[in-house]
Amino acid sequence: MNSQQLFDLSGRVAIVTGAAKGIGMGIAQNLASAGCSVAIADLDSTEAEKVANEILSKGDQAIAVSTDVSDETSVENLCSQTMSSFGHIDILVNNAAVYPMSPISEMTMDLWDHVLNVNLRGAFLMIRQLAPEIVKAGSKGRIINISSINTGKSYVGMPHYDSSKGGLEALTRSCALEYAEHGVTANVIAPGAVKTPGSMTVRGNLAKERGDPTTAEVDAEFASRIPLGDWATPDMIGQATTLLATPAASYITGQTIYVDGGLKLTI
Ligand SMILES: NC(=O)c1ccc[n+]([C@@H]2O[C@H](COP(=O)([O-])OP(=O)(O)OC[C@H]3O[C@@H](n4cnc5c(N)ncnc54)[C@H](O)[C@@H]3O)[C@@H](O)[C@H]2O)c1
Repeated sequence: MNSQQLFDLSGRVAIVTGAAKGIGMGIAQNLASAGCSVAIADLDSTEAEKVANEILSKGDQAIAVSTDVSDETSVENLCSQTMSSFGHIDILVNNAAVYPMSPISEMTMDLWDHVLNVNLRGAFLMIRQLAPEIVKAGSKGRIINISSINTGKSYVGMPHYDSSKGGLEALTRSCALEYAEHGVTANVIAPGAVKTPGSMTVRGNLAKERGDPTTAEVDAEFASRIPLGDWATPDMIGQATTLLATPAASYITGQTIYVDGGLKLTI
């Protein structure tokens, strides 16, 4: 394979969950520009349509599919809509997640179940539904799960989230073993700190606690702890995810790749 072929995803079909905004959008845009046809799967169908239209306007291929990853029927529908639009599926990126904060002492079971249902059950439902299609496509496809630097550390207020991401990493290893015989790899991308609509809520709450009118101080303080000096953009996480999807990464499986500007080295 020449170097161009090693990084070419032309003709591949990818599904990205939670791709209407934030990191998922960055992943979908990067996969599309590397040649993939992409299904933008998100609860927020209005924003998902906008992302799909923007990709189409650049001459790449995309569809938006209204999806709740925690719902079995919705996941089945996502699979059949992607198959009828593109004919096969090669790459699955489980990115959709929620992260409302609550300490253990105040956790309701509804909140615990919601976070585990979206972040872990959702990824499992997606893998169970889509892995057989990825195997059938015969292209030695990819399963890429978006976890977090949180699995290597913790914060008060994130026990449900941290548990879901720890579970996701264990699920990824199991998946890597089960599908290895088909040449399908499964890996984790673990971002550090990324400016997104979801993290804006958390950053906004932290700023409010300090009495700051904006998140500027919280953001700068956090950036100063990152060895590479700044927060990641969703695009950077998209680039790393796309790299794992290319033929160049065909022998990497069962791994967690930290895309965190070196932050994990400091904890
Ligand atoms: N932002 C960060 O700093 C950061 C750091 C580490 C890991 N992550 C991980 O990156 C991923 C994306 O995070 P983000 O910050 O971009 O989040 P975000 O909140 O900005 O976007 C998440 C997207 O997921 C969608 N979504 C939520 N529930 C869904 C469901 N049930 N079904 C389908 N779609 C659903 C939302 O509509 C939204 O479009 C998550 O897995 C998160 O845990 C983020």
